[in-house]
Amino acid sequence: SFTPRVFSGIQPSGGLTLGNYLGAMKRFVTMQDEGKFETIYCMVDLHAITVWQDPAVLRDNTRELCAFFIAAGIDPEKSILFNQSQVPEHTQLAWIFNCVARMGWMKRMTQWKDKAGKNAENASLGLFGYPALMAADILVYHATHVPVGDDQKQHLELTRDIAMKFNHDFGVEFFPVTEPVIEGPATRVMSLRDGSRKMSKSDPSDMSRINMSDDADAIAQKFRKARTDPEPLPFEMEGLTDRPEARNLVDLYAALSGRTLPEVMAEVGGKPFSEFKPMLADLAVEVISPISSEMRRLAKDTAEIDRVLAKGAERARAVAAPVVKRTYEIVGM
Ligand code: ADP
Ligand code: NA
Repeated sequence: SFTPRVFSGIQPSGGLTLGNYLGAMKRFVTMQDEGKFETIYCMVDLHAITVWQDPAVLRDNTRELCAFFIAAGIDPEKSILFNQSQVPEHTQLAWIFNCVARMGWMKRMTQWKDKAGKNAENASLGLFGYPALMAADILVYHATHVPVGDDQKQHLELTRDIAMKFNHDFGVEFFPVTEPVIEGPATRVMSLRDGSRKMSKSDPSDMSRINMSDDADAIAQKFRKARTDPEPLPFEMEGLTDRPEARNLVDLYAALSGRTLPEVMAEVGGKPFSEFKPMLADLAVEVISPISSEMRRLAKDTAEIDRVLAKGAERARAVAAPVVKRTYEIVGM
């Protein structure tokens, strides 16, 4: 049996959104504080470079992301907090997994299809192999649980397939079959401009997302302009069916206030959006602004951030190195 252990990561590709916070970071903090798991959190810079990153900007974004983790409540003493490229065991295990995963599995990944688009011949090989590296990120710690947003569900299934195929091919019970933890009202925060797309830092329209760095005016303006239908909010959950934009705003209100959807419906049912949107904006500002101001304060001390990351990498390697050593022995090396 495996030690209850959580691993998850975020790409330092700039511009963190409210989707990243509610879908990932907020639950990272909860799982750390509950104390039922060892928690390991990572800035996945090797994933970020599967698409072009300016080197100086990547370096800044990595430090800024580290500041975000800490500002949001990750304690580098309680959790292992580090940057992926400082722990070479991730890529050492990824190569083994490149030889376990099948081309057909990778080709079915919807994120690959979305990100490579029509120009797949010109996408990087790293973008195609991304899910095998992600499996290595998780399994190099023998992580049993991975909190992620809904968009990562398919990659988690691939991680499980890789663990099972490795165990089967080599006749061992070496890697755990990791459980995704995808729960709560904000597992898929949608764009404010289009209720059928997820809120993303890579969306060309800044009005489509709330950034964790947005000030109160920007947040109020984005919610005011958010796309909705003309009906007031319903009193019951069923009234949100086929109203994706309304549903998204109600989900956000629930996630930000830490209440259930029925509780929220009881409070806001019957209100027009002209009344509900400012309430939602105020709540978002209340949650985001202490985090963003703490993030800005921490990010100034780059020497301290670098110390935290170096210490975290050392602790991560202490867990990962024996797993890689044993994996290579199993493979016959
Ligand atoms: P992005 O998808 O914004 O480029 P990452 O790939 O670094 O960001 O994802 C970091 C975490 O944030 C993942 O767990 C992902 O599932 C989660 N996440 C990203 N966007 C959303 C969203 N719109 N709603 C909920 N969770 C999200
Ligand atoms: Na993502």
